[in-house]
Amino acid sequence: MPLSRDTKYIKSIGRSVSVIGMGTWGMGGGFWSPDYSNDNNWVAALRRGIELGMTLIDTAEMYGGGHSEELVGRAIKGFPRDELFIVTKVWPNHARYDDVIRSARASQQRLGTYIDLYLLHWPAPDVPICETMKAMERLVDEGVVRFFGLSNFDVNGIEEARRCLSKYDIAAIENRYSLVHRVDEGSVIPYVQRNGMLYLAYTPIEKGAFANNEFLRDIGKRYGKTPIQVVLNWYVGIDNLVPIPKAGRIEHVEENAGAMGWRLSKEDWELISRHFH
Ligand SMILES: NC(=O)c1ccc[n+]([C@@H]2O[C@H](COP(=O)([O-])OP(=O)(O)OC[C@H]3O[C@@H](n4cnc5c(N)ncnc54)[C@H](OP(=O)(O)O)[C@@H]3O)[C@@H](O)[C@H]2O)c1
Repeated sequence: MPLSRDTKYIKSIGRSVSVIGMGTWGMGGGFWSPDYSNDNNWVAALRRGIELGMTLIDTAEMYGGGHSEELVGRAIKGFPRDELFIVTKVWPNHARYDDVIRSARASQQRLGTYIDLYLLHWPAPDVPICETMKAMERLVDEGVVRFFGLSNFDVNGIEEARRCLSKYDIAAIENRYSLVHRVDEGSVIPYVQRNGMLYLAYTPIEKGAFANNEFLRDIGKRYGKTPIQVVLNWYVGIDNLVPIPKAGRIEHVEENAGAMGWRLSKEDWELISRHFH
C-alpha cells in the first residue's frame, strides 16, 4: 500500500502528491539561525506525518539556516524516496546564477537527496528573473532538482519568468492562501489551474487560529471532524491546490492527517466558502 492514499494528480509534474502536505517553518530554528534543542521531536513529528500519508514536505535554506533541511533529511530516511515530494527554496540573496547553483547543491547535501521542487522564495528585486530561471534549468539538467517554481509571485511575475525559459516550464507556485486570505482566488489560482501547475498554499490554518472557530466546529460535527480538519478538507476540494500546514506536535500532525480520506459535501463546501468571504 502506498504511503499517500489520498492524492491529487498534477499535470506539470506528471504525478500525484498527497492532498495535504507539511510545512517546516520554525522546525530547526528561525530566520537563518539554527536551533538544535528539539531535533528528536521535530523529526518524530515529520516521520509520523509521512506514515499517515502527508508525503509532500516544504522546507527552505533560510529555515534555521539550513537546519530545517537537515531535519527533513533525517525524517525521510527509510521511506520510499519516489513516494515523497520534497520542496525547498532559495532565498533571494542567492538569486544570482552561480549562487542558485551553489545553494541548491548545499540544500541537496543537507537533505541527503535530490530536490523534487525548487522554488525562488521571494522575488529578488536586484537580480533579473531570467538569470535565476536559467540556473533553475541547469539544475534540472544536472539532476539536482526535478522541477522548479516561484513563491510569493503574482501572475505578471510568473509570466515574466516563464518568458525566460526555453527548456522547462514553471511547475509550481507557493503563495499565502487561506479561507480568510483569498487574494489569489481571482488571479494566481485560476492561472495555475489553467496551466496544470501545482499551487502550494502556505499559512493555511492561520497559525492554528481556525482551531477555535465555532462555525467550522458545527460543520465538523456532521462528519466527526475538528474545525482544523474541516478547513484543511475545504482546501482538498480545490483543484491543483495543496495546503502545507506546519505541526511540530505529534497530536497536531495526527489531527491534520485526519483531514484526508473523506470529503465535505458540495453544499457544505460552498457554505464554508461563502461564510468566510
Ligand atoms: N513560501 C513562503 O514565503 C512561506 C511563508 C510562510 C510559510 N511557508 C510554509 O508554509 C508552512 C505553513 O505555514 P505557517 O507555518 O506559517 O502556518 P500554519 O501552518 O498556518 O500554522 C502553523 C501553526 O499552527 C499550529 N498547528 C498545527 N496544526 C494544528 C492543529 N491541528 N491545531 C492547532 N494548531 C495547529 C502549529 O503548532 P505546533 O507546531 O506547535 O504543532 C503552528 O504553531 C510553513 O511552515 C512553511 O513551510 C512558506
